[in-house]
Amino acid sequence: MRCPGTLLPGSGPRVTLMGVFSTTQEPHCRDVTKGLHVEARQVDARVGNRLTGARLGAYVTTIGLIGSGHIGSTVARLAVDAGHDVVLSNSRGPETLTDLVDDLGPRARAATAAEAAAAGDIVIVTVPLKAYRDVPVEPLRGKVVVDTNNYYPERDGHIAELDDESTTTSELLQAHLPESHVVKAFNNIYFVHLGALARPAGSPDRSVLPIAGDDEAAKGTVAQFLDSIGYDAYDVGPLAEGWRYQRDTAAYAGVYIQPGEDFPGSGRQATPELLREKLAAAVRYRDM
Ligand SMILES: NC(=O)c1ccc[n+]([C@@H]2O[C@H](COP(=O)([O-])OP(=O)(O)OC[C@H]3O[C@@H](n4cnc5c(N)ncnc54)[C@H](OP(=O)(O)O)[C@@H]3O)[C@@H](O)[C@H]2O)c1
Repeated sequence: MRCPGTLLPGSGPRVTLMGVFSTTQEPHCRDVTKGLHVEARQVDARVGNRLTGARLGAYVTTIGLIGSGHIGSTVARLAVDAGHDVVLSNSRGPETLTDLVDDLGPRARAATAAEAAAAGDIVIVTVPLKAYRDVPVEPLRGKVVVDTNNYYPERDGHIAELDDESTTTSELLQAHLPESHVVKAFNNIYFVHLGALARPAGSPDRSVLPIAGDDEAAKGTVAQFLDSIGYDAYDVGPLAEGWRYQRDTAAYAGVYIQPGEDFPGSGRQATPELLREKLAAAVRYRDM
């Protein structure tokens, strides 16, 4: 078949977010710079803006990781277990990731940050926020980039535009990567709970993870990835709304902590209703 512009013929799943995902193997034009073709037409009316997931069959992609610490290695483990390939990187070089790669198995390899960025269909940026300017710009052009980062001034130093709340953490990364599609995800869940609470699609005790982003198709791509690794996505809105689950807000971390257990405990399911309640209770730092 002939496809216009930069689109290429593809026969992978086409995903439509209409409350539930639907897939087809029919030939269609696919923008390879954006991974799988995703349309976000409407969301599940029953639960507001929850993006629910049904079984997606043979959805497999390559996940690039810039940062392979607590969150990066946990996402990598979930991704490998779901059948994705992962390319890991850190600040010290691929040779320092040998143990992690061995542990993850043949779907994992280590590379430089630029190589991981180039290799990933989706690239996860999961570094201390102070390092965000080191994230390579050129290989991420046109790609979906997931931002897990949080602002801890005692670790990251003070960043004036975050202190005065004229912007948000993920908008900073988006400004650094103007031609990428940044989606904020994984920010409000402790890595132990992220590993422990993943459930297959359709499980009654599956949790939601909030996502925010300015590009609907990119959010659809990330929702599809989350679905494949054990979570439903809850669309909070544009990146500017990402403050609703930033550090110290009601929806931060505690939403996945089982009350009454010593931390970290077994974790608790975050239903869309619970997350919605916590997001609605969010206040800006200046009002705390
Ligand atoms: N820990 C959590 O449960 C959690 C939960 C949600 C969100 N977050 C946020 O997610 C981010 C990552 O957290 P984490 O706990 O995973 O951190 P971490 O365990 O300290 O790991 C950070 C990773 O980033 C790498 N890194 C640092 N500077 C880099 C650079 N310039 N280029 C490439 N890689 C670089 C580190 O590599 P080297 O070791 O080689 O320096 C390391 O692999 C943070 O912003 C954090 O606030 C954390």
